[in-house]
Amino acid sequence: MKNKIVLAGGTGFLGITLANYFKDKAREIVILGRSSKFPSFENVRFVKWDGKTVRAWKEELEGADALINLAGKSVDCRYTEKNKAEIFASRLDSTHALGLAVQSCQKPPLCWLNAASATIYRHAEDHPMDEITGEIGSGFSVEVCRAWEKTFNEMATPSTRKVILRIAIVLGKGGGAMHPLKNLVRLGLGGTQGSGKQRFSWLHEKDFVQIVDFLINNESATGFYNCAAPHATTNSFLMSSLRKTMKMPLGLPAPRFLLEIGAALIQTETELILKSRWVVPTRLQEAGYQFQFSEIEKALEELVAKR
Ligand SMILES: NC(=O)c1ccc[n+]([C@@H]2O[C@H](COP(=O)([O-])OP(=O)(O)OC[C@H]3O[C@@H](n4cnc5c(N)ncnc54)[C@H](OP(=O)(O)O)[C@@H]3O)[C@@H](O)[C@H]2O)c1
Repeated sequence: MKNKIVLAGGTGFLGITLANYFKDKAREIVILGRSSKFPSFENVRFVKWDGKTVRAWKEELEGADALINLAGKSVDCRYTEKNKAEIFASRLDSTHALGLAVQSCQKPPLCWLNAASATIYRHAEDHPMDEITGEIGSGFSVEVCRAWEKTFNEMATPSTRKVILRIAIVLGKGGGAMHPLKNLVRLGLGGTQGSGKQRFSWLHEKDFVQIVDFLINNESATGFYNCAAPHATTNSFLMSSLRKTMKMPLGLPAPRFLLEIGAALIQTETELILKSRWVVPTRLQEAGYQFQFSEIEKALEELVAKR
């Protein structure tokens, strides 16, 4: 049994998924969030912070087994200058403030896991990207990832082990990408998007929480880890598997030009769908992590089932 786990930016999809997983494995879970209305539940206690300045919330880090930082404005928006600035600031400021808070602790957290993204790698249709030979991409979202990791790496925390989670798209029942994908299929619009050849690196939510647990417990784990299922699928296979699982016989395809119009209408970016993300979890597998969901069909069956 752990003593305390702190989830900074833990009010969102991944934070609540982690809180539900760890609430039976730790005496106390503390969530740091900006709203004053978020409810505490069971042994999950909510504490207000602003995500950028070190205040009284820093006391919550004392004696924690793990600090997990998930704070960041959603990238599911139009990349206007204002949104771009918020996407950067929400990640860099929160990471910096947490670093200062860890440095000020009498009894700092044993480990600090910072969210990052597998989108740091380049658009890849030719071969998969792992932590050793994977090539870093370019463009706005990659620049965010680089600056996010740099800020984290620059915070010296001699008594706190540091791990970067390069997370692929997490598929879960409680939020994230599954809701819009299922809605498209329900509306008969769940066909191939763009060429359909672009790779889709994904991770089942049950593997996400177990990977976090594994990395907390593995005292030799440091540096960055690709958090993605071993077998990336393609967009066309993802969509056909989801249609099959949801028993939807047809799904209209969406060519690139239609996606550009649709993305502008619903205020998002096509990069989220069209970038070919082909990422493999070499370091996790070498460390002995066993994936529960390696194949997309099995993952979708579990996620669509009404249990
Ligand atoms: N879900 C995925 O598939 C995925 C994949 C790769 C990487 N990631 C990264 O993992 C992290 C967590 O993902 P998620 O899906 O749980 O995201 P989410 O549901 O959007 O939650 C992120 C949390 O960040 C906090 N936040 C937003 N703007 C902030 C700001 N300006 N300052 C401080 N905190 C702010 C919010 O908490 P409050 O509003 O309560 O403060 C929110 O609950 C994100 O950084 C995301 O980029 C997620």
